[in-house]
Amino acid sequence: MSLRSSRDIPSLEITPPEIYRERRLFMQGMGVMVAGTALGITSDAQAGAKLADVHRSPYTLNEEKTPYKAVTTYNNFYEFGPGKSDPAERAGSLKTRPWTVKVEGEAGKPGEYDIDSLLKLAPLEERVYRLRCVEGWSMVIPWIGFPLSELIRRAAPTSRAKYVEFVTLDDPGQMPGQRSDILDWPYVEGLRMDEAMHPLAILAVGLYGEVLPNQNGAPVRLVVPWKYGFKSAKSIVRIRFVEKQPLTAWMRAAPREYGFYSNVNPHVDHPRWSQAKERRIGEFLKRDTLMFNGYGAQVAQLYRGMDLQTFF
Ligand code: MTE
Repeated sequence: MSLRSSRDIPSLEITPPEIYRERRLFMQGMGVMVAGTALGITSDAQAGAKLADVHRSPYTLNEEKTPYKAVTTYNNFYEFGPGKSDPAERAGSLKTRPWTVKVEGEAGKPGEYDIDSLLKLAPLEERVYRLRCVEGWSMVIPWIGFPLSELIRRAAPTSRAKYVEFVTLDDPGQMPGQRSDILDWPYVEGLRMDEAMHPLAILAVGLYGEVLPNQNGAPVRLVVPWKYGFKSAKSIVRIRFVEKQPLTAWMRAAPREYGFYSNVNPHVDHPRWSQAKERRIGEFLKRDTLMFNGYGAQVAQLYRGMDLQTFF
């Protein structure tokens, strides 16, 4: 996504919400766990530390995962530079403790969550999701986190809250890429309220069983699997409920290229390249990109009646 430079396929591997709820109760009753026995994680958990008491979520793909090395060394995090290896090479300067996430705006119960209390907000789940970058590559990543809706419910948004805005840390001392003006910092993203409440949208705090590496958005980031990767804002410090559609960092930088919705859509090309195919990292041949990244059965109803060419 460098500035320089419908077909709805239901994903059979994903359990629909009704079944999910039942199965979740069942699974909790059985005490199904992926790893560990202790409750939560230790208060000084840093990148690489194992996350304990993680439940296996039925909202998970049965697809070959992208190797840990690729997930953690090939990605975008412009706060550390525009190159694919910049985040892994330079994100060591990010301090993820102490860390506070402010929840504010149109909410009956605004507040500040210390990262360690956020980690205990809801049961942690492992969810294997596809991630499709707008640049044309994709990965399959086992995230650990909890539904964003859990936090939203606790904040009791008012009837005026129509959108949710997510803001990344703004600190050029820790984030050397912010010394360049490639984007107007801080990084801002947003979701419509019903998108934010969708059970597939999660706040991730880990991957591959471990606390999130800095380059993947530690200590807490959004993951919205049916949208292009750039919607999944990293290293979040503020979540704000607002009445008007937020102006996101990419819309501000290139409004013709990046719309608010940013749903993965093989039928709507980026002005400078096709979105019909993607390269799964680790594979040689390109594969077809799926409408809503393959999550159409779960999310298509959010956009019923909308012209997705206009609202791209
Ligand atoms: N969040 C912030 N704050 N800054 C960024 O530059 N890049 C986005 C997204 N979140 C980005 C961000 C893009 S373009 C992608 S594809 C994903 O992060 C990639 O990171 P991941 O592989 O760790 O998910």
